Amino acid sequence: MEFTAVTCNLLTKKTDCLVIVLGNKTASSTTQQSNSELSIDTATGGLISRLQKSGDIKETLGSSILINEPKGLSATRLLILSCGTTTLNEQSFLELTKHLAGQLTKLPIKNTCVSLEDVEVIGRDEAWQAQQFSRSLGEAVYLFNPFNRKDKKPSPLKQITLALSSRKGLNTLKQQLNLGNAIANGVNLSRELGDLPGNICTPSYLANQSKKLAKKHPRLSCKVLDEKQMAALGMHSLLSVTAGTEQPAKLIVLEYTGTKKGDKPIVLVGKGVTFDSGGISLKPGAGMDEMKYDMCGAASVLGTFSALVDANLAINVVGIIPTVENMPSGKATKPGDIVKSMSGQTIEILNTDAEGRLILCDALTYAGRFKPKSVIDIATLTGACVMALGSHATGLLSNDDDLAATLETAGQTSGDRVWRLPLWNEYDKQLKSNFADMANIGGREAGTITAACFLGRFTKDYHWAHLDIAGTAWNSGANKGATGRPVPLLTQFLIAQATA
Ligand code: BES
Ligand code: MN
Ligand code: ZN
Repeated sequence: MEFTAVTCNLLTKKTDCLVIVLGNKTASSTTQQSNSELSIDTATGGLISRLQKSGDIKETLGSSILINEPKGLSATRLLILSCGTTTLNEQSFLELTKHLAGQLTKLPIKNTCVSLEDVEVIGRDEAWQAQQFSRSLGEAVYLFNPFNRKDKKPSPLKQITLALSSRKGLNTLKQQLNLGNAIANGVNLSRELGDLPGNICTPSYLANQSKKLAKKHPRLSCKVLDEKQMAALGMHSLLSVTAGTEQPAKLIVLEYTGTKKGDKPIVLVGKGVTFDSGGISLKPGAGMDEMKYDMCGAASVLGTFSALVDANLAINVVGIIPTVENMPSGKATKPGDIVKSMSGQTIEILNTDAEGRLILCDALTYAGRFKPKSVIDIATLTGACVMALGSHATGLLSNDDDLAATLETAGQTSGDRVWRLPLWNEYDKQLKSNFADMANIGGREAGTITAACFLGRFTKDYHWAHLDIAGTAWNSGANKGATGRPVPLLTQFLIAQATA
């Protein structure tokens, strides 16, 4: 997708579809029509006024009407979209852009010109709007079709122009449009990897995709450790998860150097279980296909790196992806087995389905080698998180209040929100084992927190945050599909770090 911003006259603009949003800028304070609305209303002989009067255009968010060959305008189509009379916040603006994207991608159009002139979002400027706008439209063209299904056609939309009435801030807006587009491409990469089935998206596949991404960018490098190398490092917790499968496990290490070599990096660690059957603690059959999404943490790291290199951010970032397939077999790890992690701590594996923490703990120990500024792990870790927060917020747990607050802010800015849960000592005690330093499960209560407490035992040396994306990484049901979350959150966080 190509985005640009121009100053133009909406009435004479030649475009496949002119979009005007009936704004809330003036509607809330006076009954007067705003600039672009007024000029189009006049040019079309009072069309907008009549449609409003007749009730064809409603004052509800997302209500829209399409007019072909509108009289008085040079555009081939006119799409009128209402944002309601309410004050818009971040979430409702994103909802508005989703409505817009939904309409535009259905039409046989190659280009469009959109005016957001009359839209106001509380506490956010035009630059913010531009970034969210391009991200939302960029995400809307995502199409999963690796098997070339004939009934799935990509939208022909290629060029999106943001129309401005003045040149003020034009370059900033262009930059923000590009940034939003970079994030959208990262989101879509993450979704593609998530949606790919487990027989294609294996640990080796993720490793190859990572190498491919690194090859395209001089500031990005990638190395992949095999099982032998992991064994030499003492990663026996990670390796215990891969014992039952034929697929070789990999540890992917990505390094992006966007600033001085000596600057401490942010480390992102993504859970890459390419299929989670539960192992010997086998999951029930219903809905088990969705465990192909158990690598969405890994996918979000790759998506974030894609956005990072596209946006050329001035920051050092390391990505670590432990990736395995969790399967039962005669060689699989059994409940009761005890393993020694890279940190030296021993773990009694009481449930082989609590495998995410077993691969993450070794990756988190490995992360310490990079002398990180902070470490964030991203994982589809617990079903309990889906119960607690549903699909709206990612679970956030952290040993550092500043890091947690920065992530909360990035969530608010990007609309990709998080909600913090506590990491108290009382919860940590639930991990007690009679036979090893800890058990890998903490009982029925507070499953998201005890999982994070487990990880917390491996992250004592640095600032660390854990993102449980079990509820946010993909949608179930009729709209089953990966969401690409939390790529927007992570990228926003890195942008803030790079400019801090
Ligand atoms: N990948 C799952 C978590 C999960 C389940 C995410 C459902 C999204 C939807 C994870 O590996 C797992 O199986 N966790 C167990 C932990 C339990 C055994 C302590 C869970 O949540 O049931
Ligand atoms: Mn599991
Ligand atoms: Zn899992």
